[in-house]
Amino acid sequence: MAKTTISIIKCDVGSLAGHHTVPEPLLQIAERKLSEAQQSGLINNYFVFHAGDDLELLMVHQRGETNEEIHKLAWETFQEAAKRAVDLKLYAAGQDILKTSFSGNIRGMGPGVAEMEIEERKSDPIIVFAADKTEPGAFNFPLFKIFADPFNTAGLVIDPNMTGGFKFEVMDVYENKKVVLKCPEETYDLIALIGAPGQYVVSHVWRASDDLVCAATSTTRLSLIAGKYVGKDDPVCIVRCQHGLPAVGEALAPFMHSYFVEGWMRGSHWGPLMPVSLRDARCCAFDGPPRIVALGFQICNGKIAEDDEGKPMISDLFDDPSFEPARREAAELARWIRRMGEFEPARLGKESMEYTTLPKVLEKLRERFKPA
Ligand code: F6R
Ligand code: MG
Ligand code: MG
Repeated sequence: MAKTTISIIKCDVGSLAGHHTVPEPLLQIAERKLSEAQQSGLINNYFVFHAGDDLELLMVHQRGETNEEIHKLAWETFQEAAKRAVDLKLYAAGQDILKTSFSGNIRGMGPGVAEMEIEERKSDPIIVFAADKTEPGAFNFPLFKIFADPFNTAGLVIDPNMTGGFKFEVMDVYENKKVVLKCPEETYDLIALIGAPGQYVVSHVWRASDDLVCAATSTTRLSLIAGKYVGKDDPVCIVRCQHGLPAVGEALAPFMHSYFVEGWMRGSHWGPLMPVSLRDARCCAFDGPPRIVALGFQICNGKIAEDDEGKPMISDLFDDPSFEPARREAAELARWIRRMGEFEPARLGKESMEYTTLPKVLEKLRERFKPA
């Protein structure tokens, strides 16, 4: 059987009331475009959703990664949704559509992409994570925990198919270079890099014993593409689970607590990440706090496994009372750190602030600075 590809491609095409959600008319455009693509046989099936103000297209097909037709489909869908957003005078309509013409691959054009081509196992449980008001490095911490921390993932200790460890591909998003590090042997070197999530981003994970691919993230940084601040490059990630890989529950365990990520209001603050259901994927408080959703599904003969009506079966994994304490923790940390206003570390260090009046303030005061 041909290999199966999972593509999650996302874009902020405009939001209702600021930057917090994607309204129904835009979701419906995506539904229609992807339904047509399914009917024409380009994709096998799909699921449309949103994470905050990002429109998310989850597509399953057999055309491989970075396929021109698949990327073009996403591009045209975002263009049409952005046009509608402009007509409705939605906020920041077309924000992530940075380049106006399509050149064969959506990577580097604005929208975020994570893709994974797999040879289907007997049963292949998949989780797609999508986050808003943060950046791709936000996945460094949970991916480390999932694939390298035996205090998170029991299988690293208990399952003989996992004790060989995992390989992490780390991308330097400033220098556009990558390196592969193997855990557990190179754990300390890995942490040395990915503890700086603004520059070093985990882009893939493989099982070391057989190079089975088990995680892929989006690694575009919009600010670097555009050469100026245009919004946070809210990331997506695909994780493959079970049977010699971390269990679904082990992949969700890092989210039993909140942790701090860069982004939030004006892409310029540290904020606690809140795991939420699709229903609560709306970034309201101080444009946040940054949120993450997790969709669980099975891959079945080139598709997302479907129910009797032919609807893809998707489980909204954070729609679970077990994550309530993490949500409360995030809300509490959010209230707590906001009391510091624009004083670091609530605000990002000035080198990573993506748009700020600081250069203007310095320029204005230039004459008034005297040698000390
Ligand atoms: C962050 C984000 C928002 C905006 C903020 C100001 O990624 O999209 O927090 O930065 O709402 O937006 P403008 O400058 O468009 O009023
Ligand atoms: Mg926005
Ligand atoms: Mg967003």
